[in-house]
Amino acid sequence: MTVSLAPNIVIRAFGAEDDLQAVLDLAHRAFGAIPMTPPSGVLRETLQDFRERLADQVLLIARERDAIVAAVFCVPKPPALYLNRLVVAPEHQRQGLGRAMLEAATREALRQSLTKLSLSVRIALAGNRSFFESYGFRIIGAHTHPGFSEPTSYDMEKSLV
Ligand SMILES: CC(C)(COP(=O)(O)OP(=O)(O)OC[C@H]1O[C@@H](n2cnc3c(N)ncnc32)[C@H](O)[C@@H]1OP(=O)(O)O)[C@@H](O)C(=O)NCCC(=O)NCCS
Repeated sequence: MTVSLAPNIVIRAFGAEDDLQAVLDLAHRAFGAIPMTPPSGVLRETLQDFRERLADQVLLIARERDAIVAAVFCVPKPPALYLNRLVVAPEHQRQGLGRAMLEAATREALRQSLTKLSLSVRIALAGNRSFFESYGFRIIGAHTHPGFSEPTSYDMEKSLV
């Protein structure tokens, strides 16, 4: 797939000059718009939770001028870089930005000498699974949220070597 991002969108690591509240607002807006059972844990996360994540996680963001339009937390879990809270602003979805975020995460994994990308995806969100499979992720396991009798999410992985 050819990635043709708007020329004014830049993907880079979150820096001191960036607005973490804007990332939280984006995550709450985008994940809140998806009917999910149980609801995404990000909806319970606060600015303080996101600040604490920054202690040992790299946050990649996409900026369009002053606005943050996509983000993903990258958690080192050797030999994998675990991707968490990947989000693209609803008005920017299906324009290649999610895939560009995965490409940036791949570069981040290789920078940290990690050889895999990993993540969890809700089984009920078949479109998300297709999105990750189209980038080369494969299902390697399943997880059941507390209180549920059937698996609710898949563990997925992509080898980078
Ligand atoms: C999932 C998400 C990150 C995808 O980002 P995106 O920018 O819309 O995805 P892209 O435009 O890069 O999609 C690349 C390809 O993945 C596939 N794809 C993406 N979304 C898809 C969907 N909903 N259904 C089926 N295939 C999909 C398609 O092949 C697509 O290429 P195409 O548009 O040329 O057909 C975005 O929809 C999002 O932020 N959703 C809300 C939060 C969320 O669910 N995050 C993931 C948690 S695991």
